[in-house]
Amino acid sequence: MQVRNGKKAEIKRKIFENEGKTREKSGIRNLKIRKGLFISFEGGEGTGKSTQVGLLADKLSEQGNLVHITREPGGTELSEEIRKLLKTTSDVDPITEMLLMFAARREHFVKSICPMLEQGYTIICDRFYDSSLVYQGVLKNIPIEQIVQLKIMTLGDFEPDFTIILDIPPSIAKERIQHRQLYLDNYDMMSENEYDIIRNGFKKIAEIFPFRCKLINASGDEKKVFSRICKVIEKFMVQKV
Ligand code: TMP
Repeated sequence: MQVRNGKKAEIKRKIFENEGKTREKSGIRNLKIRKGLFISFEGGEGTGKSTQVGLLADKLSEQGNLVHITREPGGTELSEEIRKLLKTTSDVDPITEMLLMFAARREHFVKSICPMLEQGYTIICDRFYDSSLVYQGVLKNIPIEQIVQLKIMTLGDFEPDFTIILDIPPSIAKERIQHRQLYLDNYDMMSENEYDIIRNGFKKIAEIFPFRCKLINASGDEKKVFSRICKVIEKFMVQKV
């Protein structure tokens, strides 16, 4: 099953319409007093996000940047507890799951992300809000407008400066996970069909937000993938200065 083309336009319209409406109602101001950069990594399971996050952090640190690695759900004590619960509880209701993801995110955002950006850190985050659009919206069919409302409530206008989306065929992803991990959690055990829906969901995100998202072919060895990432990050950094 794939995200149909008509559905892509609908998702896009709903994201933009609802962000506008909710922002007007809530009166949330734009949170733009930040000095650092926020880079998120997205993609399905087994795409190699964590490895690439580490490689990029090393490279940016070597270049003299203050770098902080984090992840979602997670990033603070409470958010990590929520992560553990989500990973080990089976059959969580989709709306409960979404609310827990956003509770973890709000805590992470307020207690860690905002203060560190103000201190000038470059934050590299393994998953962020785009994962909610794909997993809760596209995979679990929660209406996009509800997800966008929660996003505005918890993050205001905040958006990542740059998002790398790692893309590989589900069959390779499944194989990688089975070879790499001894323990498979609820999310790792999804079917290949679900992996496919997630993959297509992220492709749509890359099309909807071309100004901040870059889809990267994550097949092949990790050095090759990293050099693809470096190329787009270098371009992005040049545009930023
Ligand atoms: P991961 O750290 O292995 O990527 O596991 C986190 C899981 O949580 C992953 O399967 C995606 C899922 N997830 C959501 O469903 N919604 C979200 O908003 C986030 C951040 C993650």
